[in-house]
Amino acid sequence: MCGIIGYIGEKNASPILIQGLRKLEYRGYDSAGVAIQDGDTIARVRSVGKIENLAARAATEKLPGTVGIAHTRWATHGGVTEENAHPHTDQSESLVLVHNGIVENYREIKEQLGSEHIYNSETDSEILAHLIGEHIKESDGKLTEESFRLAVECALKEVRGTYGLVVMHKDVPDYLIVARMGSPLVIGVGTDGYYIASDATPMLAYTKKVIFLEDGEIACVSKTDMQTFNLKDECVVKCVEEIEWNQEQAEKQGYEDFMLKEIHDQPTVFEDAIRGRFNVEEGTAHLGGLNMTEEEMHSVKRIVLIACGTASYASMVGKYAFERLAGIPTEVDVASEFRYRDPIIDKHTLVFGVSQSGETADTLAALREAKRKGAFVRGIVNVVGSTIARETDGGTYIHAGPELAVASTKAYTNMVAILLLYALQFGRLKRVALATGERMLHALLEIPQKMNEILDTAEQIKTIAKVYANYDHMFFIGRGINYPVALEGSIKLKEISYIHSEAYPGGELKHGPMALLSENFPVFGIMTKDQLYDKMRSNIEEVRARKAPVILIASQGDDTAKELGEHVMYTPKTMELLQPLLNTVILQLFSYYVAKELGRDVDRPRNLAKSVTVE
Ligand code: M6R
Repeated sequence: MCGIIGYIGEKNASPILIQGLRKLEYRGYDSAGVAIQDGDTIARVRSVGKIENLAARAATEKLPGTVGIAHTRWATHGGVTEENAHPHTDQSESLVLVHNGIVENYREIKEQLGSEHIYNSETDSEILAHLIGEHIKESDGKLTEESFRLAVECALKEVRGTYGLVVMHKDVPDYLIVARMGSPLVIGVGTDGYYIASDATPMLAYTKKVIFLEDGEIACVSKTDMQTFNLKDECVVKCVEEIEWNQEQAEKQGYEDFMLKEIHDQPTVFEDAIRGRFNVEEGTAHLGGLNMTEEEMHSVKRIVLIACGTASYASMVGKYAFERLAGIPTEVDVASEFRYRDPIIDKHTLVFGVSQSGETADTLAALREAKRKGAFVRGIVNVVGSTIARETDGGTYIHAGPELAVASTKAYTNMVAILLLYALQFGRLKRVALATGERMLHALLEIPQKMNEILDTAEQIKTIAKVYANYDHMFFIGRGINYPVALEGSIKLKEISYIHSEAYPGGELKHGPMALLSENFPVFGIMTKDQLYDKMRSNIEEVRARKAPVILIASQGDDTAKELGEHVMYTPKTMELLQPLLNTVILQLFSYYVAKELGRDVDRPRNLAKSVTVE
């Protein structure tokens, strides 16, 4: 999740842009840059690290001008370097752009542009700049506002993927072209000019009048006017809206807390996680970061997933997937135990470190130990450029964007997404049929829509959560693929509501925990339709016989679930291995609303830190 800010108007642009970047910092950043137009020249300054590094350099270079664009980058394509930081230029260095999103077909575009194009970065965004530059070259005569717009439109028609884009050109001064497809952009209407940004936060100090750009729209903005077009070059009439948010509300995009916002981010960031990483025709995934030859992949006899907390529960879903699809024995090892256990690891072991922050001390130490023992060591990490990402010999970013709430939500679902893709990639190499691979990929593509269906039931989940806020204890139970889901539900509830909870495989209750059950001890069963459904129903019957209140997650259409549970929350059906991606969203909302009912600080629960960098 990168941040864009642009300004065109009467005031000096540089301070507005730098201040705007500071306001966008919460979206995450690893580098930043700014470009300011002054007459027919464009000055560009970029810097790695904090916005303050860029601010210092911009102050030294002065950067006069009243039109400019700036960007905070959260790396996706290419490492964290000054060359990869935005703004990027085209071949002629006359056009400058900032871009959020992913150009999926950037390889094809690069090939089509040919070898005379020289690139200075590893980014898809720079290729997009070159593509627009190429269309400008094709337009006859002096570049005008209209031919500039048409060139951008032509280029965007060739792009597959997502973009939030602001482009300027030195030959068309005092003019910005803004385009959106899947990556939000807001245009602020000020008394002194226009402000453009990824969200409203950087413009609130100047204006509360905004225009929200929709997908497929292109706005052409001058100092005093703006016009909007669609990709068919038809004019679109836009309404100016008045926003009421203050700074903090704007960062949360109107949600009450970061956790709630991050729960709702999931359909979008899930798409970011899987985009461009599979091939439906071949029924397989392509996670290039694995950095292993087919021969090396065949040599893997065992997989070990190392993680802590929620990341370890995501890994448990991965274990089921690797074993079922690839037939490779897979273990999940809690990092703090692994590092001191003298684990059995050899060159036939593939070790994945799974971590949102990429800085968890125990996970890092465990991975170093695995590396010393000669395993293939790879990372599945959210924070780009983090220590785990740097120290592993490859791996995959989960693209969840910055996760600010201590309780992990969207990182969990994206970890599961990547583990499923890895399991499919190994599975197709070994024993998964093409048709099964295709089916799984189609099912993955349907997940965001199904997550949205669940998010639409938030009010019902809230009503149910209120009923359970006053119990002191709760069990979560599940079987098979739903056992890790129960673990994740339990950690979510305890960490943000402080209600004592534990998770068990459904079949385990009678071996001890059942002694605790009574009418004051609710049990949350995850009972979706899968191969262990009947077994799970029996476990729920056992719970009911002990008079414990029962809450259930059941598959849509399972009307008999109502006979077993005081409260039932229904979830859309998907392939069994993918069901955790949906069931967990219900549990996140349930825990969130229980915690809110109890007045907890859900984003910053007591005694916990977002990133555990100490042992
Ligand atoms: O940054 P990591 O994914 O390595 O963090 C691991 C755990 O500390 C983390 O998942 C923790 O359990 C969360 N607070 C759970 O919501």
